[in-house]
Amino acid sequence: MEHTARLELDGQSHDLPVVEGTEHELAIDISKLRSETGYITLDDGYGNTGSCKSAITFIDGDKGILRYRGIPIEEIAGRSSFMETAWLIIFGKLPTVEDRERFRQLLTDNSMMHQSMRKHFDGFPPNAPPMAILSAMINTLSMHEPPLDMEDESQLEEAAARLLSKVRTIAAAAYKSSVGEPMVYPRYDYKYAQNFLHMMFSVPYREYEPKAEVVKALNLFLVLHADHEQNCSTSTVRMVASSKANMYASCAAGVCALWGPLHGGANVAVVEMLQEIKESGMNVSEYVAKVKDKEAKQKLMGFGHRVYRNFDPRSKILKKAADDMLEAMHIDDPLLDIARELEEAALSDDYFIERKLYPNVDFYSGVILRAMGLPLNMFTVMFAIGRMPGWIANWKEVHDDPKGRIYRPRQVYVGNPQTEWKPREER
Ligand code: SDX
Repeated sequence: MEHTARLELDGQSHDLPVVEGTEHELAIDISKLRSETGYITLDDGYGNTGSCKSAITFIDGDKGILRYRGIPIEEIAGRSSFMETAWLIIFGKLPTVEDRERFRQLLTDNSMMHQSMRKHFDGFPPNAPPMAILSAMINTLSMHEPPLDMEDESQLEEAAARLLSKVRTIAAAAYKSSVGEPMVYPRYDYKYAQNFLHMMFSVPYREYEPKAEVVKALNLFLVLHADHEQNCSTSTVRMVASSKANMYASCAAGVCALWGPLHGGANVAVVEMLQEIKESGMNVSEYVAKVKDKEAKQKLMGFGHRVYRNFDPRSKILKKAADDMLEAMHIDDPLLDIARELEEAALSDDYFIERKLYPNVDFYSGVILRAMGLPLNMFTVMFAIGRMPGWIANWKEVHDDPKGRIYRPRQVYVGNPQTEWKPREER
């Protein structure tokens, strides 16, 4: 018997179909609600609304589960490279040896950006936010790349490789432009993370030799950020993709959505928060008290999540990675100690327990990026590089849907009733 939900409205009964997902999550399909009842639904922030069916990533916020194409993040992290993880997320299965070699070659062959793209950097002011540059230059890519036939799987794979490879080159170029150093060409013999670090930190007179633990930590960072179902920026990518905009335009929009401090910008806000605590001499309990005082309007950055009402599995992995990396590099970062104290204080405080607030992916990631030598204004750029596979996969899922419709939510209008226009002298 088909599972339905009965809605009693104005003395009439309406049976709405119930959809059940792979992991038995249930949804009431309201696609015919307005035509049958004249009513729409209202859900501020979409906290209760499924915007789509997706087969890419599964999250169970109560159990702290995150799976890419069904594979638990704990099994992927530390075992698959970022490139292997990207291929899994975009194409739906772990790559074979042939897939890996072909994709790796595509990434290598597409690691440079068009020479004329470099000219744009001369026009950006030195203090230009790298996230603004990233979004602008991803869109610029579409001007310089010959259009690919997205209906052809091999050309779609090349488009994905182009974007994944060049986003790294653009990010490094944005950094070099901001510090007044010449841009560094990618190396043919370097893999993804290693090449990025090379383009970031080599200079004409000295090659930067990325340490193994730094390359390992960067791969892990990128893997953990690679996708996260319908978060704000991925939903933005799908919204733009639904109008049949190209992959570059959709992902450039994703960069803009990620930028905000409530989303990907939180990794910057966390470090600023830890630095504020350190420099102010305030102790952790004083800061926690400030967060609990609503008047202060101060959130504990890196804490809380719309979906995770338990620990964020990525945060647990990043916390250990931060410990391991700083120990391997003999770095003693007081911000990591403050972060640990903050976590301990918050997790034992009713304010956070009642609201189910736990560390999220951004709480420890900044400590790792600092240890790599990345400047604060590049932190959210790193999140964007990591999230690119998820954005591309979601763009592809929208693009491939034969029944796909343009995303066009409704609204409840609360503005003026019909109002007459008045000539200037009567206003
Ligand atoms: C990411 O969606 C994703 O998957 C995102 C992400 C991904 O991989 O794509 O996981 C990446 O964006 C992680 C989140 C990074 N943002 C931050 O760390 C910023 C700090 N966190 C908060 O702004 C907040 O927790 C959000 C934005 C993450 C979630 O916001 P919600 O779900 O809208 O929660 P809410 O604002 O309704 O909060 C419920 C209550 C409120 O208190 P009351 O009004 O009930 O008294 O919890 C409080 C909030 O004030 N609260 C916090 C808090 N987060 C929520 N109080 C203090 N510190 C916080 N961080």
